[in-house]
Amino acid sequence: MSGEARGVRLGTVEKTLLWTVYIKVLDFRNDPPLLGDAWAVDTLDRLKFDRRVLRGVGGDRNLVLLRARRIDDWARRWIAENPAGTVLHLACGLDSRALRLGRPREGRWFDLDLPNVVELRQGLLPEPEGYRLLAGSVTEPDWLGEIPSDAPVLIIAEGLIEYLSPDRTRLLLDRLVERFPQGGEIVFDTVPGWVSVAARAHGVPMFGMDDPRTPERWNPKLRLVQERPLMAEYADVPEWGYRTMYRAFNTWEPTRSSMRVSRYRF
Ligand SMILES: C[S@@+](CC[C@H](N)C(=O)[O-])C[C@H]1O[C@@H](n2cnc3c(N)ncnc32)[C@H](O)[C@@H]1O
Repeated sequence: MSGEARGVRLGTVEKTLLWTVYIKVLDFRNDPPLLGDAWAVDTLDRLKFDRRVLRGVGGDRNLVLLRARRIDDWARRWIAENPAGTVLHLACGLDSRALRLGRPREGRWFDLDLPNVVELRQGLLPEPEGYRLLAGSVTEPDWLGEIPSDAPVLIIAEGLIEYLSPDRTRLLLDRLVERFPQGGEIVFDTVPGWVSVAARAHGVPMFGMDDPRTPERWNPKLRLVQERPLMAEYADVPEWGYRTMYRAFNTWEPTRSSMRVSRYRF
């Protein structure tokens, strides 16, 4: 099912960006919040869309929040260590990461999403100095030429890889590694095969990756340096019921790995 916001049509996958903003708004109202993203509140307030798109979203919002927080933590560290680096944030949706973290001191930040999402995003969130919002598809190489290749790069893809076929993911990783000879890191989340099968049964077109070492076999320049199943962060889940459930899930490998974030160096 597709949706519409501010008069912009959103397809089945693009529409999921409304879910993540809404989840961040629910989190912001919690005391204390897991992520505490005030930009999400402002963004959602200014968006006109049919709220039925959000039906059923946010019951269990913890994985999305733990994922964003984990990626923020890793990215913050990389940015501090690479003051002249470039951040390339793929499939940014309406996420405010560039504002939450700030760009590398002497570096640049690029957000990228599909053209209709960029149209939706324009004017909703501030665009600070050193920041650029690009329209393009990660499955096409045209936009890559816009990103300078003379600095180390941090590439973030949150909530994206599970919507790309393995062939497309592999092609994207190959293109990224080739484009940035100074090297850098790539961070993304994945779901295992069983989650993608369950999601498809509910009409969400997902792809799974069971082994986080798969990208190393695809491209020998990629090295897995860290991976984190988000269930392992159960202790920070605010609601007792979900915390208990996550703790139980964390003891059995298939459920423990139902969403993981991995960090690769190249
Ligand atoms: C689950 S949302 C995640 C948005 C954001 N990263 C977040 O966490 O709030 C998925 C995003 O992937 C984007 N996307 C899907 N396919 C894409 C493609 N081929 N190229 C660029 N972005 C894409 C969608 O437009 C959407 O913004």
